[in-house]
Amino acid sequence: MKIDIITLFPDMFKGPFDMSMIWKAQDRGLAQINLINLRDFGLGTRHTVDDTPYGGGDGMVLKPEPVVAAIEAARTANPGARVIALTPSGHRYSQAMAAELSELPGLILLAGHYEGFDERILTYVDDQVSIGDYVLTGGELPAMVILDSVVRLIPGVLGGEASAADESFSEPDLLEYPHYTRPQEFRGEAVPEVLQNGHHAEIAKWRRAQAQAKTAKFRPDLLKNSN
Ligand SMILES: C[S@@+](CC[C@H](N)C(=O)[O-])C[C@H]1O[C@@H](n2cnc3c(N)ncnc32)[C@H](O)[C@@H]1O
Repeated sequence: MKIDIITLFPDMFKGPFDMSMIWKAQDRGLAQINLINLRDFGLGTRHTVDDTPYGGGDGMVLKPEPVVAAIEAARTANPGARVIALTPSGHRYSQAMAAELSELPGLILLAGHYEGFDERILTYVDDQVSIGDYVLTGGELPAMVILDSVVRLIPGVLGGEASAADESFSEPDLLEYPHYTRPQEFRGEAVPEVLQNGHHAEIAKWRRAQAQAKTAKFRPDLLKNSN
Protein backbone atom coordinates (compact mmCIF):
# COMPACT_ATOMS: atom_id res chain seq x y z
CA MET A 1 0.00 0.00 0.00
CA LYS A 2 1.26 3.45 -0.87
CA ILE A 3 0.55 6.05 1.81
CA ASP A 4 1.17 9.77 1.37
CA ILE A 5 0.93 12.23 4.21
CA ILE A 6 0.51 15.91 3.41
CA THR A 7 1.84 17.89 6.35
CA LEU A 8 3.49 21.14 7.38
CA PHE A 9 5.69 19.19 9.81
CA PRO A 10 7.25 16.17 8.03
CA ASP A 11 9.99 15.96 10.67
CA MET A 12 7.41 14.90 13.27
CA PHE A 13 7.15 11.52 11.51
CA LYS A 14 10.84 10.64 11.62
CA GLY A 15 10.95 8.68 14.89
CA PRO A 16 7.62 6.82 14.80
CA PHE A 17 8.06 5.55 11.24
CA ASP A 18 11.57 4.27 11.75
CA MET A 19 10.72 1.56 14.27
CA SER A 20 8.45 -1.32 15.18
CA MET A 21 5.64 -2.49 12.84
CA ILE A 22 5.73 0.53 10.55
CA TRP A 23 9.42 0.07 9.90
CA LYS A 24 8.92 -3.67 9.39
CA ALA A 25 6.07 -3.09 6.93
CA GLN A 26 8.24 -0.73 4.88
CA ASP A 27 11.24 -3.02 5.08
CA ARG A 28 9.16 -5.94 3.75
CA GLY A 29 7.79 -3.76 0.93
CA LEU A 30 4.22 -4.03 2.27
CA ALA A 31 3.85 -0.30 2.88
CA GLN A 32 5.48 2.60 1.13
CA ILE A 33 5.22 5.85 3.11
CA ASN A 34 5.86 9.21 1.53
CA LEU A 35 5.84 12.59 3.28
CA ILE A 36 4.69 15.61 1.27
CA ASN A 37 5.66 18.99 2.69
CA LEU A 38 2.70 21.32 2.29
CA ARG A 39 5.10 24.27 2.47
CA ASP A 40 6.50 23.23 -0.95
CA PHE A 41 3.12 24.22 -2.42
CA GLY A 42 2.97 27.54 -0.54
CA LEU A 43 2.34 30.77 -2.38
CA GLY A 44 4.94 33.44 -3.16
CA THR A 45 8.45 33.81 -1.90
CA ARG A 46 7.33 33.14 1.68
CA HIS A 47 5.56 29.90 0.67
CA THR A 48 2.40 31.08 2.41
CA VAL A 49 -0.14 28.37 3.26
CA ASP A 50 -2.53 30.20 5.59
CA ASP A 51 -4.48 33.41 5.92
CA THR A 52 -6.86 35.18 8.32
CA PRO A 53 -10.48 33.98 8.48
CA TYR A 54 -13.29 35.74 6.63
CA GLY A 55 -15.83 37.00 9.12
CA GLY A 56 -13.18 37.57 11.80
CA GLY A 57 -12.09 35.41 14.69
CA ASP A 58 -8.87 34.05 16.12
CA GLY A 59 -6.28 31.96 14.34
CA MET A 60 -5.34 31.28 10.76
CA VAL A 61 -7.00 29.10 8.13
CA LEU A 62 -5.25 26.87 5.57
CA LYS A 63 -5.65 28.37 2.10
CA PRO A 64 -7.24 26.37 -0.72
CA GLU A 65 -4.64 26.94 -3.47
CA PRO A 66 -1.60 25.27 -1.81
CA VAL A 67 -3.57 22.48 -0.14
CA VAL A 68 -5.53 21.53 -3.27
CA ALA A 69 -2.31 21.66 -5.35
CA ALA A 70 -0.70 19.25 -2.84
CA ILE A 71 -3.72 16.92 -2.97
CA GLU A 72 -3.69 16.90 -6.77
CA ALA A 73 0.04 16.18 -6.92
CA ALA A 74 -0.41 13.34 -4.42
CA ARG A 75 -3.35 11.87 -6.37
CA THR A 76 -1.30 11.91 -9.58
CA ALA A 77 1.54 10.00 -7.92
CA ASN A 78 -0.78 7.66 -5.99
CA PRO A 79 -3.65 6.82 -8.37
CA GLY A 80 -6.59 5.00 -6.79
CA ALA A 81 -5.71 6.28 -3.31
CA ARG A 82 -8.43 7.48 -0.94
CA VAL A 83 -7.83 11.04 0.25
CA ILE A 84 -8.75 11.62 3.88
CA ALA A 85 -8.74 15.02 5.56
CA LEU A 86 -8.06 14.83 9.29
CA THR A 87 -10.45 17.03 11.20
CA PRO A 88 -12.24 16.88 14.57
CA SER A 89 -15.50 17.45 12.69
CA GLY A 90 -15.19 14.34 10.50
CA HIS A 91 -16.55 10.77 10.80
CA ARG A 92 -15.33 9.12 14.00
CA TYR A 93 -12.45 6.72 13.27
CA SER A 94 -12.89 3.05 14.22
CA GLN A 95 -11.29 -0.36 13.89
CA ALA A 96 -13.85 -1.17 11.18
CA MET A 97 -12.62 1.83 9.19
CA ALA A 98 -9.00 0.74 9.72
CA ALA A 99 -9.86 -2.69 8.30
CA GLU A 100 -11.58 -1.15 5.30
CA LEU A 101 -8.65 1.21 4.60
CA SER A 102 -6.11 -1.62 4.90
CA GLU A 103 -7.60 -3.19 1.76
CA LEU A 104 -7.08 -0.11 -0.41
CA PRO A 105 -4.17 0.22 -2.83
CA GLY A 106 -3.33 3.69 -1.49
CA LEU A 107 -4.12 6.33 1.06
CA ILE A 108 -3.46 10.07 1.17
CA LEU A 109 -3.77 11.63 4.63
CA LEU A 110 -4.14 15.39 4.85
CA ALA A 111 -3.03 16.89 8.16
CA GLY A 112 -4.44 20.30 9.04
CA HIS A 113 -3.08 22.95 11.36
CA TYR A 114 -4.06 26.32 12.89
CA GLU A 115 -7.88 26.68 12.81
CA GLY A 116 -8.11 24.04 10.09
CA PHE A 117 -9.03 23.99 6.40
CA ASP A 118 -10.79 26.52 4.21
CA GLU A 119 -14.09 24.64 3.71
CA ARG A 120 -13.63 24.58 -0.08
CA ILE A 121 -10.60 22.29 0.32
CA LEU A 122 -12.93 19.56 1.54
CA THR A 123 -14.53 19.30 -1.90
CA TYR A 124 -11.26 17.74 -3.07
CA VAL A 125 -11.06 14.93 -0.50
CA ASP A 126 -12.93 11.61 -0.37
CA ASP A 127 -13.63 11.57 3.36
CA GLN A 128 -13.15 13.56 6.57
CA VAL A 129 -12.09 11.66 9.65
CA SER A 130 -11.73 12.47 13.35
CA ILE A 131 -9.75 10.22 15.68
CA GLY A 132 -11.86 11.20 18.69
CA ASP A 133 -13.85 13.87 20.43
CA TYR A 134 -10.99 16.17 21.39
CA VAL A 135 -8.92 18.79 19.58
CA LEU A 136 -5.22 18.38 18.86
CA THR A 137 -2.86 21.06 17.59
CA GLY A 138 -2.37 19.46 14.19
CA GLY A 139 -3.27 16.46 12.04
CA GLU A 140 0.15 14.82 12.41
CA LEU A 141 -0.73 12.67 15.43
CA PRO A 142 -4.09 11.64 13.90
CA ALA A 143 -2.22 10.70 10.68
CA MET A 144 0.18 8.54 12.72
CA VAL A 145 -2.74 6.91 14.55
CA ILE A 146 -4.52 6.05 11.31
CA LEU A 147 -1.37 4.91 9.57
CA ASP A 148 -0.33 2.65 12.44
CA SER A 149 -3.78 1.08 12.80
CA VAL A 150 -4.07 0.49 9.03
CA VAL A 151 -0.56 -0.77 8.32
CA ARG A 152 -0.65 -3.42 11.05
CA LEU A 153 -3.74 -4.91 9.35
CA ILE A 154 -2.04 -5.34 5.96
CA PRO A 155 -1.59 -9.10 5.52
CA GLY A 156 1.97 -10.12 6.36
CA VAL A 157 2.78 -7.18 8.67
CA LEU A 158 1.88 -8.81 11.99
CA GLY A 159 3.69 -12.00 12.92
CA GLY A 160 0.62 -14.21 13.46
CA GLU A 161 -2.28 -13.39 11.15
CA ALA A 162 -4.67 -14.37 13.96
CA SER A 163 -3.41 -11.72 16.34
CA ALA A 164 -5.33 -8.85 14.73
CA ALA A 165 -8.52 -10.92 14.40
CA ASP A 166 -8.69 -11.47 18.15
CA GLU A 167 -8.24 -7.93 19.40
CA SER A 168 -10.51 -5.29 20.92
CA PHE A 169 -13.04 -4.01 18.33
CA SER A 170 -12.30 -6.79 15.81
CA GLU A 171 -15.81 -7.68 16.91
CA PRO A 172 -16.97 -4.06 16.82
CA ASP A 173 -18.78 -3.99 20.17
CA LEU A 174 -16.36 -6.00 22.28
CA LEU A 175 -13.12 -5.25 24.11
CA GLU A 176 -10.44 -7.88 24.34
CA TYR A 177 -10.18 -10.47 27.13
CA PRO A 178 -7.38 -10.16 29.75
CA HIS A 179 -3.94 -11.65 29.09
CA TYR A 180 -1.51 -13.31 31.51
CA THR A 181 2.08 -14.49 31.24
CA ARG A 182 4.68 -15.88 33.66
CA PRO A 183 5.11 -15.77 36.63
CA GLN A 184 2.18 -17.99 37.64
CA GLU A 185 1.81 -15.87 40.78
CA PHE A 186 2.66 -12.17 41.14
CA ARG A 187 2.44 -10.50 44.57
CA GLY A 188 -0.22 -12.93 45.70
CA GLU A 189 -2.31 -12.74 42.52
CA ALA A 190 -2.40 -15.99 40.57
CA VAL A 191 -3.09 -16.60 36.89
CA PRO A 192 -6.71 -17.85 36.58
CA GLU A 193 -6.87 -21.64 36.91
CA VAL A 194 -8.78 -22.10 33.64
CA LEU A 195 -5.86 -20.73 31.59
CA GLN A 196 -3.55 -23.35 33.03
CA ASN A 197 -5.59 -26.47 32.32
CA GLY A 198 -5.07 -26.57 28.53
CA HIS A 199 -8.80 -27.12 27.85
CA HIS A 200 -9.34 -24.97 24.74
CA ALA A 201 -13.15 -24.86 24.80
CA GLU A 202 -13.19 -23.81 28.46
CA ILE A 203 -10.52 -21.18 27.82
CA ALA A 204 -12.49 -19.76 24.88
CA LYS A 205 -15.67 -19.63 27.02
CA TRP A 206 -13.84 -17.93 29.89
CA ARG A 207 -12.24 -15.39 27.56
CA ARG A 208 -15.59 -14.53 25.99
CA ALA A 209 -17.18 -13.95 29.42
CA GLN A 210 -14.21 -11.85 30.52
CA ALA A 211 -14.36 -9.77 27.34
CA GLN A 212 -18.05 -9.10 27.96
CA ALA A 213 -17.43 -8.19 31.60
CA LYS A 214 -14.61 -5.83 30.64
CA THR A 215 -16.78 -4.19 27.99
CA ALA A 216 -19.62 -3.74 30.49
CA LYS A 217 -17.22 -2.13 32.98
CA PHE A 218 -15.26 0.20 30.71
CA ARG A 219 -17.45 0.67 27.61
CA PRO A 220 -21.12 0.04 28.46
CA ASP A 221 -21.97 2.20 25.42
CA LEU A 222 -20.65 -0.59 23.18
CA LEU A 223 -22.94 -3.21 24.73
CA LYS A 224 -25.96 -1.08 23.89
CA ASN A 225 -25.09 -1.50 20.19
CA SER A 226 -24.41 -5.20 20.43
CA ASN A 227 -26.90 -8.01 20.07
C1 LIG B 1 -6.46 22.98 16.23
S1 LIG B 1 -7.11 21.82 15.09
C2 LIG B 1 -8.44 22.72 14.38
C3 LIG B 1 -9.71 22.55 15.13
C4 LIG B 1 -10.89 23.21 14.47
N1 LIG B 1 -10.82 24.62 14.58
C5 LIG B 1 -12.17 22.70 15.12
O1 LIG B 1 -12.64 23.31 16.08
O2 LIG B 1 -12.70 21.66 14.68
C6 LIG B 1 -5.91 21.80 13.84
C7 LIG B 1 -5.85 20.54 13.02
O3 LIG B 1 -5.56 19.45 13.86
C8 LIG B 1 -6.12 18.26 13.35
N2 LIG B 1 -6.95 17.64 14.39
C9 LIG B 1 -7.13 18.11 15.64
N3 LIG B 1 -7.90 17.29 16.37
C10 LIG B 1 -8.21 16.25 15.56
C11 LIG B 1 -9.00 15.08 15.73
N4 LIG B 1 -9.63 14.81 16.87
N5 LIG B 1 -9.08 14.22 14.69
C12 LIG B 1 -8.47 14.47 13.52
N6 LIG B 1 -7.72 15.59 13.29
C13 LIG B 1 -7.60 16.47 14.30
C14 LIG B 1 -6.91 18.65 12.09
O4 LIG B 1 -6.14 18.37 10.95
C15 LIG B 1 -7.10 20.14 12.28
O5 LIG B 1 -7.24 20.82 11.06
